Amino acid sequence: MTHTPDTSPLAGLRARLGDDLVMSGPDIAPYCTDWHGDEVSDAIAVLRPQSTAEVTACLRAARELRLSVIPQGGRTGLVLGAVPDAPATQVILSLERMNRIRRIDAAGFSAEVESGVVLQALQDRLAEQGLFFPLALGAQGSCQIGGNLSTNAGGLNVLRYGMTRASVLGLEVVLPDGRVLDLRRHLHKDNRGLDLKQLFIGAEGTLGVITAAVLKLTPQPEQTATALLALDSLDGAIALYQLARRQCCDLMSAFEFLPPLAFDLAREAMPDLPVPLSPDAPAYVLMDLSGSGLVDIEGLMTRFLELGFETGMIRDGVVAQSQTQARNLWLIREGMNDGQARRGRHLRTDLSVPLSALPAFVAEAEAAIHAALPGAVCVSYGHVGDGNVHLNVLPDPGGDAGAQIAQAKEILNAVVARHDGSISAEHGIGRLKRAEFEAGLSDTQRALLAGIRDLLDPGRMMNPNCQLATTDRP
Ligand code: FAD
Ligand code: LAC
Ligand code: ZN
Repeated sequence: MTHTPDTSPLAGLRARLGDDLVMSGPDIAPYCTDWHGDEVSDAIAVLRPQSTAEVTACLRAARELRLSVIPQGGRTGLVLGAVPDAPATQVILSLERMNRIRRIDAAGFSAEVESGVVLQALQDRLAEQGLFFPLALGAQGSCQIGGNLSTNAGGLNVLRYGMTRASVLGLEVVLPDGRVLDLRRHLHKDNRGLDLKQLFIGAEGTLGVITAAVLKLTPQPEQTATALLALDSLDGAIALYQLARRQCCDLMSAFEFLPPLAFDLAREAMPDLPVPLSPDAPAYVLMDLSGSGLVDIEGLMTRFLELGFETGMIRDGVVAQSQTQARNLWLIREGMNDGQARRGRHLRTDLSVPLSALPAFVAEAEAAIHAALPGAVCVSYGHVGDGNVHLNVLPDPGGDAGAQIAQAKEILNAVVARHDGSISAEHGIGRLKRAEFEAGLSDTQRALLAGIRDLLDPGRMMNPNCQLATTDRP
């Protein structure tokens, strides 16, 4: 009996990489689904390397077999960058098994970690040595350092520490052709020519695979004061933020805006969550002051709140008296995302405008949505100190959700354009925002972006439909 050789891409991967690296069949279903379950796809296989050399082998195998590669971290990205869209030709490259913390240099305030390390796991290890990587976001129990760098994640602490790229000292990247670009440096200052590592931060897996990073650390804040404040308006929140920037000596580490609906949404996700303020104010702010050593954070918060009450900027407020109370206040903010998810498919946005224009922008955008979609609900919240608002739209349950989401997106993009803002303040482009992103590019920008991609990945093997369309070549 003659045996017909298996020439499928899957067999090709197994022949080149061995069975341990190649996962296929029903086990790969979770890797093909995005966080919200809006996108359910498939792939030839999930490749699970354990070392930089194995990542090189995976990319070389994919290249030989003419497959494209979707790098994947914790799959918490919100713009469809980490899930496949062409099952017959794509493999997922999961970094989950590259999860070693290679070195913590406490004296030098740096750590070298592999890209599959989960952010929370890193924070826990660093806290044991009184250290902190200044990135905090609701997905930190699942997202990975490689995903954080590849999306240049923002989160709650940007106003003090900057976006992720500000906290990266070095990088190890496997280029699409398999070469390893070793830019691992523990130097806090290094100004030798172009900073190549920055190319890969925010590239969303289109230029190569980040396998390790050297991160810049700060001391773990030993003191944190958390306050939930009731205010008159978003304008009032921005005024309070400006006051806090001037009065709190750069010790403010978070300043999040919440609408009154936040309490309902959080309670829908966590029915027992305590809500310590009455939800009848038009606007709320959740803020942290933090520091370590000789500073008096509690005293600073007390004096700042006195000022806020005296000037009439704060209506009411509560300061957490324990870590549990502080955690519960932050759960109101975190519960907002879950609460919205429970209400079904909705438009999630991530917009920014110049800080002083934010209140006018939100008022104009919400009015435009209400005029066009009277039954829809706007949920505007988030990192307003950065000029960034998640202005989400929950469709009228009586109508077609998809059509309302599309219409709301178009309306908001037009308002963003009028304010010279950004359609992606922190989440990136992925596949979800590619069309709007491309539409906003000048010819010169487009040529440069496509040129960089062609230089590193002429075959467009890496995440081919992310950020720029594959066909959109110079
Ligand atoms: P993934 O989703 O797996 O991947 C994201 C992108 O990076 C994809 O394009 C993927 O191809 C690429 N990629 C992943 N790993 C690598 C690698 N090693 N090399 C090359 N490319 C790679 N984001 C914010 O900025 N601020 C927030 O406050 C915030 N809050 C969130 C709250 C919730 C509840 C959720 C679900 C998400 C939130 N996000 C936020 C979005 C998300 O958590 C971040 O974008 C995160 O950085 C993604 O990390 P990940 O490991 O899950 O990446
Ligand atoms: C947040 C995510 C949605 O800030 O970016 O909750
Ligand atoms: Zn956010």
